[in-house]
Amino acid sequence: MEQEDITNLNYNSISPSARSLLLLKGHTNIPFARQTAELLTSPNKYIPDFNNRDMIFWARVVHFENRYWSIDKLLEDLPIKNILELSSGFSFRSLETSGKSGFYYIDTDLPDVINLKKDFITALRNRSFSTEGKLELAPLNCLNEPQFHEIVSHFPMGEIVIVNEGLLMYLDSKEKENLCNIIHKILKERGGYWITADIYIKKSQAKLNLKIDDKTTDFFLKHNIEENKFNSFEEAESFFRRMGFIIDKEAVLKHSELSSIKYFLKSVTIKQLFKIRKTGKIQATWRLRVADVELKKPSNITKTLFNRNNIGLT
Ligand SMILES: C[S@@+](CC[C@H](N)C(=O)[O-])C[C@H]1O[C@@H](n2cnc3c(N)ncnc32)[C@H](O)[C@@H]1O
Repeated sequence: MEQEDITNLNYNSISPSARSLLLLKGHTNIPFARQTAELLTSPNKYIPDFNNRDMIFWARVVHFENRYWSIDKLLEDLPIKNILELSSGFSFRSLETSGKSGFYYIDTDLPDVINLKKDFITALRNRSFSTEGKLELAPLNCLNEPQFHEIVSHFPMGEIVIVNEGLLMYLDSKEKENLCNIIHKILKERGGYWITADIYIKKSQAKLNLKIDDKTTDFFLKHNIEENKFNSFEEAESFFRRMGFIIDKEAVLKHSELSSIKYFLKSVTIKQLFKIRKTGKIQATWRLRVADVELKKPSNITKTLFNRNNIGLT
């Protein structure tokens, strides 16, 4: 399908958060982000503005670019080729990964998003892309256990990796527990890992004094985003431990690996940079696995992680 064919689609059905994320990611080298942003805004032209010197804008771009690559970092050293992505929005890790031989990637989100995404994938594939692995797109409300099990049953034999970014902050405590229970059962049975980039700590935005626009603020309030974050990394670790998971590894990326960092550095003052460094880490990406035995104390790996002082934005 060519670009013109998808211009009649109803963009109102797009999750506003997934849409705005894609428009930010169009300023990075994340696979297919620029092309998809162009399709999404068609027939208007999508022109990323690299001359923009709004520090907050670039801080967000850097943050989301880092979050995207942090998942790839934790996938990299695993031999597992069955991957299930939850709430993938307009992210195309699935298309990139399933281009490689042996991978079986199931890309999921709510039905409206998946319907539209199917058209995007057709359009992107038509622009000279070949698939050596297998790619499935499937609607999945991640809190629907029977639907979740049914989709997992599509994978060939072997361990699986479940990945997600930008989901847990939309779920309240009960819903998070529900999701953990479903994933725990599946990983216990199949073996494998859960990589989640959604270890966000409360009040991070306020600490950084990053003023966000009114529309985004309203959106955060409506979805209880701040309330749904964890109080601390320690609390997040205890939560997952209680749900039967342990932290296998945390993603660490060098800032120099991010394509957007140079624009952020051109836009930030020394004073702002100092404040950001002082704030410390506000988000983490963890690779979790099912605990063999119930752990009573935090693992050594997490003790080390919490003591490290990362740059706040990532
Ligand atoms: C902030 S967007 C993140 C999209 C993508 N992961 C990214 O980082 O660009 C949140 C996504 O979660 C999806 N979502 C919300 N609730 C969901 C649920 N219960 N099950 C599956 N997906 C859900 C939305 O449709 C949306 O695409």
